[in-house]
Amino acid sequence: MTPVFSGVTHMFSPNDLEAYWMPFTANRAFKSSPRMLVAAKDMHYTSADGRQILDGTSGLWCCNAGHGRAKITEAIQRQAAEMDYAPPFQVGHPAAFELANRLTDIMAGDLNHVFFTNSGSEAVDTALKIALAYHKACGNGGRVKFIGRDKGYHGVGFGGISVGGLGGNKKQFGNQLPGVDHMPFFYDKATSAFSKGQPVHGADIADDLEAIITLHDASTVAAVIVEPVVGSAGVFVPPKGYLERLRAICDKHGVLLIFDEVITGFGRLGTAFGVDKFKVVPDLVTTAKGLNSGTVPMGAVFARDGIYRAIVDGAPEGAIELFHGYTYSAHPLACAAALAAQAVYKEEDLFARAGALETYWQGAAHALKEAQHVVDIRNIGLVAGIELAPRAGKPAARAFDVFLKAFEKGLLIRTTGDTIALSPPLIISKTEIDQIFSTLLDILKETA
Ligand SMILES: Cc1ncc(COP(=O)(O)O)c(C=O)c1O
Repeated sequence: MTPVFSGVTHMFSPNDLEAYWMPFTANRAFKSSPRMLVAAKDMHYTSADGRQILDGTSGLWCCNAGHGRAKITEAIQRQAAEMDYAPPFQVGHPAAFELANRLTDIMAGDLNHVFFTNSGSEAVDTALKIALAYHKACGNGGRVKFIGRDKGYHGVGFGGISVGGLGGNKKQFGNQLPGVDHMPFFYDKATSAFSKGQPVHGADIADDLEAIITLHDASTVAAVIVEPVVGSAGVFVPPKGYLERLRAICDKHGVLLIFDEVITGFGRLGTAFGVDKFKVVPDLVTTAKGLNSGTVPMGAVFARDGIYRAIVDGAPEGAIELFHGYTYSAHPLACAAALAAQAVYKEEDLFARAGALETYWQGAAHALKEAQHVVDIRNIGLVAGIELAPRAGKPAARAFDVFLKAFEKGLLIRTTGDTIALSPPLIISKTEIDQIFSTLLDILKETA
């Protein structure tokens, strides 16, 4: 295709839908029948046609405090007026340091250092690079390989899609990181379908990690990365004992363990992090989304003391220790929003609130067991996955139909493949939980 440069093309383009190339969206289908959101408050969006839409997905797993929270909005406004931007290289601003302290206060173990990014994808690529830099600083520069897991989602950077285990996210982009292998997926529907919380069976599949590390030779392996709870591939909860085994195998071989907590962080599981829920402390933790309740793009990587110390103390005095960072790392608006969001979480005890609702949520989700098309239900914290039987020859079509009908009926859900994934704001009421599942039940009854 030869591009034609014609200078100024339109003084006034019509405000049509073509210019915006939408992410992870069927652009043509959307643009022929758009779904527009124009406002949001607490548990609801308002659609362009004036309807209230109950948010069953915290936007995209991120607005954990609900929408339009005055404290967060005001903090962003104040910060924008006071100092819009500060460069993060060789200069600092107080909110970045304060936020790192507030975050390490709530993080377990000695994960005491925070590197800021602008998204979950950047947090993942940052964590992979920190793992490489750590081994190099320790004199183990041969440790360059990564091990992910089948069905893993770690964002869309080249690092993330390489360690990720979703074919759909790789197939258009042939060239990925070399030296990456994948563990098999842990979930066995035959033994674990309709488990409430963590399945009882399946921990032994973690032992495949031992075989993979041995195959590559431990001296070449830098890190293993997993989501503690699989989100994007359709909500899969790790079997009891599984994460503990991964930790033990990594320890045995000097391999770093990375938890990707981009969706499990900040209360989603009824605890601050998956680290607390499963009582397994990894070496690096990636976060984003709920960090500032989805209000300003931001991600963060937590690193254990020993990792930070090895890289920082290992460099010559006065030298930049890690050649990595983003123009918008620790952006003042994102930091202000995060400090306010963390304050809201604490004042309203929202992580514990999610934990207290878990049993009710679980009961409401599993009440759909006998509904038409339902083949599995999985849950933990305030997350649920309701898997539907696919239509013959048309994977994902049935669930997407449910998504469209739900939107029409005033409920926002998310579907991935044929699974409905639910992750509401942590301020949800029992009445609203009932509303989510009764709406879904009605829709499933009328869905072919
Ligand atoms: C586990 C996990 N990691 C990484 C990402 C990527 O985050 P982002 O879309 O902010 O780049 C996501 C997004 O859903 C995620 O679920």
